[in-house]
Amino acid sequence: MVKILIRPVQIEDAQGMLDVINPIIRAGGTSAIEVEYSLETQCDYIANIGPRAACNVAIEEASSAIVGFQGYELHANLPDHIADISTFVRIGERSRGIGRQLCDFTFKSARANGFTEINAAIRADNFEGLAFYSRMGFRDHSVLRAKPLKNGKRVDRILKRRPL
Ligand SMILES: CC(C)(COP(=O)(O)OP(=O)(O)OC[C@H]1O[C@@H](n2cnc3c(N)ncnc32)[C@H](O)[C@@H]1OP(=O)(O)O)[C@@H](O)C(=O)NCCC(=O)NCCS
Repeated sequence: MVKILIRPVQIEDAQGMLDVINPIIRAGGTSAIEVEYSLETQCDYIANIGPRAACNVAIEEASSAIVGFQGYELHANLPDHIADISTFVRIGERSRGIGRQLCDFTFKSARANGFTEINAAIRADNFEGLAFYSRMGFRDHSVLRAKPLKNGKRVDRILKRRPL
């Protein structure tokens, strides 16, 4: 398991987060996000994280680089005891335990923030995302059928949930 430090995001982390997420968006096929983020939108996101939300970054001890991050927040389609989660680990750093360590941190944080359950919405063609959340204790909850992508392709979203 890679040695990382996990802590709440700070505004100075914006570029490091972009270096994680934009290559994932460019590669396609996993995230439902299809347009790369700019430094401005990322700073805006960090500055406006609400009281019932959090984002935590994983920093590799050896390099001090951000190698992943995970956020949770309220979602308009979910009751307020269920948080919605998303996780991103840098391409090239996968399967080294970063996602699992982020989950340990996030679950504690979300519990302390009043949530009793956590939801993940995963593209049905994102096999690594589905496998990852299953290993983290999430179970299938429901399916949102044929959600359109920008290229017109329609992909189901699998909703998986886990008690906290
Ligand atoms: C999904 C993702 C976050 C996993 O992160 P990671 O750091 O590689 O995960 P870990 O190494 O901590 O793995 C945790 C567990 O999930 C399992 N897992 C992770 N990726 C897997 C894969 N591709 N296939 C099967 N199992 C997998 C691991 O075996 C591990 O189980 P174990 O600890 O019991 O051995 C990462 O691949 C990613 O960023 N993907 C792109 C973005 C994405 O799809 N996010 C999810 C939707 S929001």
